[in-house]
Amino acid sequence: MAYATVHGSTREIAERLGARLDEAGLDADVRPMKEVHDEDAYEAFVLCSAVHGQEWLPEAREFLRRNSELLRVRPVWIFSVGMPDSLRGPWKRMAHKEEPVIAESLPGHVPYRRHWLMSGVIRPAHLPLAGRVLFRLMGCRYGDYRDWTALNGRAEEIARGLVGPAERH
Ligand SMILES: Cc1cc2nc3c(=O)[nH]c(=O)nc-3n(C[C@H](O)[C@H](O)[C@H](O)COP(=O)(O)O)c2cc1C
Repeated sequence: MAYATVHGSTREIAERLGARLDEAGLDADVRPMKEVHDEDAYEAFVLCSAVHGQEWLPEAREFLRRNSELLRVRPVWIFSVGMPDSLRGPWKRMAHKEEPVIAESLPGHVPYRRHWLMSGVIRPAHLPLAGRVLFRLMGCRYGDYRDWTALNGRAEEIARGLVGPAERH
């Protein structure tokens, strides 16, 4: 379980996933991507990155590039943490269009079992003035949008994937 975060919500998502995988009897190690240097030691990867400008953070993109060969021969699940649930009105209808854009921008052509775009936390202090103005013009709402119930379900799916028959998308 490796994550890249700016304000911490992705770290907490990774920690929750790791705790649920531990409960399922798997030995999950949760670490910032920047601090993972022994990738070969892991049998599977759950990679989580905050999304800025419809892309993963630079260290997360670098992690995919650096490990693309290894990740091709290990099971991989991917979480992008953005803010689709903060959108309102016409923007809300656009929200589902972001997931394929992010997936397309991932470097390394790494095959993965599932990619989920989840909402994280967005606060005024996270954005520069221009960003706060745009956020307001788009009618977005600040808040903590993390869906812990959905996350638990995803952890269960990952756990089943690791003990069940291999199936790669
Ligand atoms: C500068 C900036 C740019 C962002 N760009 C996007 C974006 O393009 N798409 C999106 O869905 N969320 C975007 N977000 C929302 C964050 O991805 C969201 O707040 C997430 O929870 C941040 O994770 P973190 O707390 O781990 O840093 C942006 C947030 C900031 C501060």
